[in-house]
Amino acid sequence: MNAQALAGVRVLDFTHVQSGPTCTQLLAWFGADVIKVERPGAGDATRGQLRDLPGADSLYFTMLNHNKRSLTLDAKKPEGKAALERLIRGCDVLVENFAPGVLDRMGLSWERVHELNPRMILASVKGFGPGRYEQCKVYENVAQCAGGSASTTGFDDGPPMISGAQIGDSGTGLHLALGIVAALYQRTHSGRGQKVLAPMQDAVLNLCRVKLRDQQRLQRTGTMHEYPQYPDGNFGDAVPRAGNASGGGQPGSILKCKGWERDPNAYIYFITQAAAWPAICRVIGEAGWIEDEAYATPAARLLHLKPIFERIERWTMTKTKFEAMEILNQYDIPCGPVLSMKELAEDPALRASGTVVEVEHPVRGSYLTVGNPIKLSDSPTEVRRSPLLGEHTEQVLAEFGFAPEEIACLRAAQAV
Ligand code: COA
Repeated sequence: MNAQALAGVRVLDFTHVQSGPTCTQLLAWFGADVIKVERPGAGDATRGQLRDLPGADSLYFTMLNHNKRSLTLDAKKPEGKAALERLIRGCDVLVENFAPGVLDRMGLSWERVHELNPRMILASVKGFGPGRYEQCKVYENVAQCAGGSASTTGFDDGPPMISGAQIGDSGTGLHLALGIVAALYQRTHSGRGQKVLAPMQDAVLNLCRVKLRDQQRLQRTGTMHEYPQYPDGNFGDAVPRAGNASGGGQPGSILKCKGWERDPNAYIYFITQAAAWPAICRVIGEAGWIEDEAYATPAARLLHLKPIFERIERWTMTKTKFEAMEILNQYDIPCGPVLSMKELAEDPALRASGTVVEVEHPVRGSYLTVGNPIKLSDSPTEVRRSPLLGEHTEQVLAEFGFAPEEIACLRAAQAV
């Protein structure tokens, strides 16, 4: 018996770029048979974007399309369309992240898909849900701006800021994957497929929900004591950018560590958790602060966060981020080193857990990727390289009952 959670689920993968492929890669990692449908001769545009090796699929593509098979098919030609309809009849899920209207123009409206296969789940990423921007094309940074992330990221005296985390694309892909799995589960009772929609704006807003929490707190009280604008600055009528403040009930900040003058990542995130306050005071050499009424309670400390973090930083600057981690962890003081991508790529624990994986590719050789970050004890993930364009066309068509002559005919009709 196949040990993978989604074994037996067949996914027709019409996704491209990042958001949709993130979703289908996860489904593949949980054991679904993901068949990526690509345009003959061209394929997913990311195969050729940000190339670091001439002639090889880019890392952009390979890192988002592991464990999938690739089938080329021109969905706009009658032969391709007819083949596609046969594939739809034999699959469980169709995932797409085309621009609004593209699937309809291919003749694959929800009604048509449902008619072809009432059990099929049709899952889509779009930039926006119903409303004034519904027809817009959207990429990552647009979603970060429209979903509330940019307006709440960065420093108060600077412009809105884009995050390095791809919350618009990969974040939405994750949301969509959960929607698909939920719909698959409901289908076990209902016997019916359904539409699943994850708009990028909505997914980003979901990931920024603490800021909508703060918006309402601000409107009620006119202030927020854990924000750097308190106590000296002004609050407007919308949640301001909070720099590196923690955003939660426990004040925190990014502090310099030894070597910060040369190393742009010699920093540590330091949280002054209330329970750890006496230990913090002792470690930094300010034992007097434990009883001092200006610092003794969390409410009192909120009035002095700037000098408190300046003092703690005078201590962290005497240690490397790793030395500081080691010392602070002995006292359960929550903190975390700012790790560079180089450090993460070399991290032995991430390698051992399968979150950073080295993959062999026939054209590009070996490369590193992020493996499945979600670990199921009964459904282990083995990361397999991304497919070459059209690598599995014949294999897949044969599995779906196409005769050799039909396959040859389809190939001839689609020659580019
Ligand atoms: N056979 C024939 N045609 C195919 C095909 C195939 N196998 N696969 C794709 N195509 C065609 C489509 O039919 C469409 O043509 P049409 O516009 O003439 O109908 C075209 O290729 C793809 O269109 P589109 O999705 O508009 O691609 P784009 O490169 O212009 O736009 C995005 C890219 C990402 C902006 C857009 O797809 C989008 O907004 N997607 C939704 C939001 C999203 O996921 N964004 C994040 C991406 S990481």
